[in-house]
Amino acid sequence: MFESRTGILLIAGLGFFALAFLSNGLVPILMYRDMPEQTAEEVVNRHLLIQFDDLRSRYPEGFAKLVRHLGHDPEAKPTPESDRQLAAETLRYARKLYIGEACWHCHSQFVRPVSNESRRWGPVAKSWEYQNELQRPVLFGTRRVGPDLSREGGRRSNDWHAVHFFKPTSLVEESVMPEYPWFFDGDPNHPNERGIAMIAYMQWLGSWLPHYFNNYVDPRLAEAQP
Ligand code: HEC
Repeated sequence: MFESRTGILLIAGLGFFALAFLSNGLVPILMYRDMPEQTAEEVVNRHLLIQFDDLRSRYPEGFAKLVRHLGHDPEAKPTPESDRQLAAETLRYARKLYIGEACWHCHSQFVRPVSNESRRWGPVAKSWEYQNELQRPVLFGTRRVGPDLSREGGRRSNDWHAVHFFKPTSLVEESVMPEYPWFFDGDPNHPNERGIAMIAYMQWLGSWLPHYFNNYVDPRLAEAQP
């Protein structure tokens, strides 16, 4: 067996399998075993809360619907703690929508270290970015009919997203992205609980990076900023 070509190929195949298992499975587990997985509450940050506040003042009716949908009282006076809680629950809800609507069929959430992707989408994705509840399972996606979304936060305004979800071709003429009328109670100025949650989720993506409002700037320039 060891003299034949197939024997050598078999052993090489098993060897490479073991190597891949070691480098892609065991090594990351050992590297990240001391890094606790963060909860949704822990990944809510200042950048997202700014957007959340904007959504509340821009779309009061839809926002109230979202708060009610999450089982809270829309009349209650918001505090920093209640906002953090609400934002975390919104992200959990929106992630389910993102999966249910199969957004991941057309969008990836992973900037790869090849083909100068960082020039187009911002910093290459790092493993620690996926070490939280909202990445279980991770939403790397399978292909890219549309752009990568892992640095979408801060790239567009909330009302841009509303109009885009309502009718993508009204902003990008050649877009093949579907329309999502069920994110709205009428026109693009009235996103409902689904629309608002999805916009908040878009604004969260990449919000953990320091240069939030210009992630799409050439990362070499972004990194030079204080
Ligand atoms: C059939 C494939 C397809 C599906 C499904 C799809 N998209 Fe898209 N999406 C695209 C394409 C193509 C573009 C680029 C053209 C455009 O901006 O409309 C895009 C663009 C976007 C953009 C704008 C990115 C930017 O800043 O330019 C966002 C945000 C987005 N999609 C989010 C979503 C979300 C959320 C869902 C699920 C609710 C979704 N997409 C479903 C194909 C898709």
